[in-house]
Amino acid sequence: MNGILETIVQRRAVKAFEPVEISGEVREQILDAARYAPSSFNTQPYRLYWIGTEKQRAVAAKLCMGQKPAATASALVVAVADLGSLRATSQAQVAWMRTRSEFSEAKIRDFERTAMIGRILFMPGPFGIFAAIKRLLFWLLGFWKVAGRPPLSRQDLFKWATKSTSLACENLMIAAEALGINTCPMEGFDGRRLAKFLGLSARHHEIVMVIAVGKKSRTYVAPPQWRRPLESTVTLL
Ligand SMILES: Cc1cc2nc3c(=O)[nH]c(=O)nc-3n(C[C@H](O)[C@H](O)[C@H](O)COP(=O)(O)O)c2cc1C
Repeated sequence: MNGILETIVQRRAVKAFEPVEISGEVREQILDAARYAPSSFNTQPYRLYWIGTEKQRAVAAKLCMGQKPAATASALVVAVADLGSLRATSQAQVAWMRTRSEFSEAKIRDFERTAMIGRILFMPGPFGIFAAIKRLLFWLLGFWKVAGRPPLSRQDLFKWATKSTSLACENLMIAAEALGINTCPMEGFDGRRLAKFLGLSARHHEIVMVIAVGKKSRTYVAPPQWRRPLESTVTLL
């Protein structure tokens, strides 16, 4: 089997880890792979918090309800959908474009304009007023034109950002597996307390998942892996 496919198939949600140190080099490779995931408009609307120190990890593990993967992991990665990063990300991309000969000034201005329109389209406005207006406009537009609908409410926005964040998480887990490190994605955590612990803002941040990272315990035996058959999962048209 192709090496990448093998890694994908081999990955399991590991529930107990050995107490091993993850080197800075491996940590960087794992985190770096995450940001190669595709993201909506390449906005990369997430931030990954790597909790590696023993003291911090113990607090975070408790906020993951003391689940065994969290309690035994060498590190915990908290993947946060981050709506507050959008402006800085497009500014950073513009700065990068200016260093590249492939992008003309007209192309850069075009990108800046699109990014600004995107931000306006995505803004829910005070008390969600813009969202209500946009919902009505897009609903009316839908009567005479094939039209997509941008995320309107803050909840829609978090849902939008969660898609890209989840893809980064999968990249992270596959990269870890390829490097001989195991993982367990978790949504069993106290989101409010964990957000407070990390100093997140309810307006801009939502925790998507926590990933326990470590070396599978020698005594841990994974249960057999079950998946729905392909024909129950896929519709061929
Ligand atoms: C979004 C998400 C949340 C999960 N939450 C937990 C969790 O809180 N605790 C846990 O032990 N496993 C959790 N898992 C792991 C799943 O139980 C596991 O992936 C699934 O049973 C399939 O097993 P496998 O990944 O080994 O094939 C979660 C997985 C995902 C994708």
